[in-house]
Amino acid sequence: MARSKAKHKLLLEHADGRDLTRLAEYERVGGYSSLKKAIKMDRQAVIDELLTADVRGRGGAGFPMGRKASFLPKPEASAKPIYLVANADESEPGTFKDREIMVRIPHMFVEGIVIASHAIGASAAFIYIRGEYLAEFEILRDALEEARRAGLVGGNVLGTGWSLPIVLHRGAGAYICGEETGMLESLEGKRGQPRTKPPFPAISGVYASPTLINNVETLATVPKILELGGAAYAKLGVENSTGTRVFSLSGNVVRGGNYELELGTSLRELIYDIGGGIADGRELKAVIPGGSSMPVLTADQVDTKLDADSMVEAGTMLGSGGVIVLDDRCCMVQLGLRVAQFYQHESCGKCTPCREGTRWMVDLLRKIEAGEATQSELDLLLDVCDRILGNCLCPLGDAAAMPVASYVARFRDEFQRHLDEGGCPFGGESTLDHVMAPVDQHHARRLAEIEVPA
Ligand SMILES: Cc1cc2nc3c(=O)[nH]c(=O)nc-3n(C[C@H](O)[C@H](O)[C@H](O)COP(=O)(O)O)c2cc1C
Repeated sequence: MARSKAKHKLLLEHADGRDLTRLAEYERVGGYSSLKKAIKMDRQAVIDELLTADVRGRGGAGFPMGRKASFLPKPEASAKPIYLVANADESEPGTFKDREIMVRIPHMFVEGIVIASHAIGASAAFIYIRGEYLAEFEILRDALEEARRAGLVGGNVLGTGWSLPIVLHRGAGAYICGEETGMLESLEGKRGQPRTKPPFPAISGVYASPTLINNVETLATVPKILELGGAAYAKLGVENSTGTRVFSLSGNVVRGGNYELELGTSLRELIYDIGGGIADGRELKAVIPGGSSMPVLTADQVDTKLDADSMVEAGTMLGSGGVIVLDDRCCMVQLGLRVAQFYQHESCGKCTPCREGTRWMVDLLRKIEAGEATQSELDLLLDVCDRILGNCLCPLGDAAAMPVASYVARFRDEFQRHLDEGGCPFGGESTLDHVMAPVDQHHARRLAEIEVPA
């Protein structure tokens, strides 16, 4: 019998029943021992462990972390200071794993930042945290302060003479500021808009200095890699997708939540064995495997494994690890409309195909949903998607075009029925409120959460 991959936990291993937000408790389960080990190692030896672990970034693009760290110039050869920026902007609909990491194991994240900063010879690190994450910000702020008082961050880290100030910077509610160069602009106090690449941040990042940018979960994984050793870490998961990931399970499923699983676990195991199956006794219709920007899978693809290669083979990507379950009541046109509205709203407007294309997509999807679109307008929708794809400075436009084009490709009959029947075959009813909050609800929540200075 195939071994279940679901049981291994590395990040959230001790998080149940312990308050790991407290430094003493984190140290009791071995916390900061990886930093103590790494700090005595040569910088390149730390990068070598990351390379051997073959750990891919957990923020969306899945680029190998060790390779990215290798692109930076060595500190002794760099005319400019070197920086690390932790991406804690987490705004992709369906993705809520970084917030769990920051709330439950903030020190593991901080420890990962310090180890990675040592590896690249950084003279300061920044955490760019999503503005709406107020509780996460407060927990992280307190963890940083505790770590600073214990000599783990800040001046003279662990008595080595090396200083690593960590700046905790709050965003102001823009999805585009999760895109790495938009984030750098915002961090520098400018409007959050993507930069032209190259130069890549590894050469010219924040303040035009070499910068390593990694996601919260990627950095939180680093202490475990040092603890186990890169080679042992690489044995977990599958080839080309090593280790574990925290998957955010949501939508029409019985037990939504964050689950840390070994890569290579099947979607079926996550949705049925762990998530308790489809809510309300309904049938599975489709799954979005990696956050709202990823192409959809159909129910008959539920045995696809949660790893990079299997997902690509199935026609999609692992993205940010947000698994959204859709039941048979979900109208794919309404879903497309909601996804397109989100990206239209979040488009920064810098690139015309994204700014105009997402608006056009919304207009066309509204017409299709109302049964007022012509046959050629359905084709036009695909044409608009095609003209956005790959034609902008950053992939925000792609994030709208890829999923919507996949809904049409995989559920063409359903789109066609809207045209043939002159309206929505689901009668405009939707289960989507359980899946992704509409833009106006999203706004209301934001406004309620944002701290207004007195
Ligand atoms: C529009 C857009 C939004 C993004 N939002 C996030 C985000 O909220 N968090 C994140 O870690 N990466 C996000 N990314 C990916 C980052 O640009 C970058 O690839 C990532 O932070 C690198 O970290 P990693 O290599 O550890 O995954 C986004 C990308 C795009 C195009």
